[in-house]
Amino acid sequence: MHHGDHDDGQDPKEQINYKAAFGLLSRLVLERKGPFAVAALYMTAATLLSLLIPVITKYIIDTALPAMNARGLLAAVGGYLGVTLLYLYFNYLQVAQLARAGQDTIVHLKRRLLRHMLSQDLEFYSATPVGRLTARVQSDTSTLYALFTNTVITILNDVLMFCVAFGVMFHFNRRLSMVLLPVFPVLVLMGWGYARITSPMFVKVRKLAAEVPGFLTEQLNGIGVLQAFSREADASAKMEDLNKRKFSAEIRVELYGVLFFTSIVALQPIATAGIFGYGGTQVLAGKMTVGVVVMFLLYLGYLFEPIFRLSDHLSVIQRSFSAGHRIAKILAMKPRLTDPEKPHYLTSVREAIEFRNVWMRYKEDSAWVLKDVSFRLPRGQSLAILGETGGGKTTVTSLLFRFYDFQKGHIEIDGTDLRKVSLGSLRQAIGLVQQDIYLFPGTVMDNLKLMDASIPDSRVHDAIRTMGLDGFFKKHPLDKKVQEKGANLSIGEKQVISLARAMVLDQEVLVLDEATSNMDPHTERAITGAIKSLIKHKTVIVIAHRLSTVRSADRIMMISGGEVKELGTHDELLARDGLYAKYYRLQFGEAA
Ligand SMILES: Nc1ncnc2c1ncn2[C@@H]1O[C@H](COP(=O)(O)OP(=O)(O)OP(=O)(O)O)[C@@H](O)[C@H]1O
Ligand SMILES: [Mg+2]
Repeated sequence: MHHGDHDDGQDPKEQINYKAAFGLLSRLVLERKGPFAVAALYMTAATLLSLLIPVITKYIIDTALPAMNARGLLAAVGGYLGVTLLYLYFNYLQVAQLARAGQDTIVHLKRRLLRHMLSQDLEFYSATPVGRLTARVQSDTSTLYALFTNTVITILNDVLMFCVAFGVMFHFNRRLSMVLLPVFPVLVLMGWGYARITSPMFVKVRKLAAEVPGFLTEQLNGIGVLQAFSREADASAKMEDLNKRKFSAEIRVELYGVLFFTSIVALQPIATAGIFGYGGTQVLAGKMTVGVVVMFLLYLGYLFEPIFRLSDHLSVIQRSFSAGHRIAKILAMKPRLTDPEKPHYLTSVREAIEFRNVWMRYKEDSAWVLKDVSFRLPRGQSLAILGETGGGKTTVTSLLFRFYDFQKGHIEIDGTDLRKVSLGSLRQAIGLVQQDIYLFPGTVMDNLKLMDASIPDSRVHDAIRTMGLDGFFKKHPLDKKVQEKGANLSIGEKQVISLARAMVLDQEVLVLDEATSNMDPHTERAITGAIKSLIKHKTVIVIAHRLSTVRSADRIMMISGGEVKELGTHDELLARDGLYAKYYRLQFGEAA
């Protein structure tokens, strides 16, 4: 499956893919077979111990009491207490063991899911809202916790309990056991029907469970816009609507669960009546002892206990499988852009970056965004890209990072096809300062190092000195706390920090997507100086909006409608009196 197959497709009849979900869940358990096996052992011990109790009861009623055997009675009571204590002890061990194994499994799955998501192309992220992905990692994995800590082992145990209980009953009295036989096919049929009917409902619940936090994240991210336009009420009305839909979906699922459970519970009195009726007649006829009937009634409890639990578990199972189904769906997505078989590891750009007749479109059926783009950027030089909004400037640089693939032409670094270069080494070698700057919560220092603690502080100080930014970082000290998304900094300040970061990270090649907004003279000077300094020290492609940046670049490339219109030095292009000359006069008229 691929990104086109949207993760949260609104197919109301989407059934759980039990095979894929089971594959995932069983693999998760098998990866931790040791701990789960130990838990299963504890549980088996506990179950077998508890199954002894009816036998002890029968001994007391049928043997010890009629024989007036006080010592036998005492021994049986002692045995009863001992068995119960042991049972509780093993039960405790099992619960503790499972909690550990379950947590471990969930943490592992979360890590794996996150790693998988991070390896996806940007295309994946433009198709799936971040809030929903968060929900996948958080709530879908948590849903599985109940399965791993409780259900998986309990089911094995329940099957065991059921079989042993029935076996013992069968051993003591075949005909009385037969009274119970017709109950079982009815049970199986009901369970199957329940699973079948509720499967799409559970899928829907999981979808809505992801949509609620998804919507919430989107709205809270846009809170500034919401408040500015007084749209808070609309947002909460939509939230209300989503919640209502989730509520009614949950209620429906619960109702089916209760209905199913109640019908199963109704089977026990029927079975009890059968035992009383048939067993009672046998006792009256002198063919059976009272002890056997009592024992059977006790075992009936043991027989139905796993059935009740199983029917209760069926909803956990359905929930888990629908969560597993969605997780498996994400894990099955493959990034389109992956490392080649024998990747070439790029350490630095020694000669040049070259685009030759590159054609690119974002989707197969959409228009070309880049048409026959060619340029060569030798090491140590700089190229400024200019052009109208939507002209394809950012796209050119995205291709260099292989965020997207191109359809025709060649991109080469030192003569090596870009598609042969390992993605990791490529992105390590080329630095990026994006148009929309994102700062992470932490200190200014953390952000300058991009959370890489192995970078020595001295490198940060050196970079700041080289760029002449000492003044700026006096005002915004390195230990200043940056809030999420850099909310406590102005756009200009964020730009300065991200430019300084590019110097700190020490990549030789840099792609700069200059932001357009105008700054106060102070910040403007800091930014201009920083960019100039980067251009001087590195191989730079800069999408330029400032006159000073354009003038500092070795060459200038004009892009319009995805085509390279002009390419040359500032003087050459001015002399040509073409698009650049016009743009230059329009944009920088006064300043120039
Ligand atoms: N992820 C995407 N999926 C589909 N189309 C896209 C995507 N990103 C950009 N485009 C389209 O490709 C074209 C070029 O976009 P690009 O971002 O390269 O423009 P730009 O020159 O950088 O513009 P700006 O100066 O506004 O940043 C635009 O028409 C845009 O709508
Ligand atoms: Mg852009």
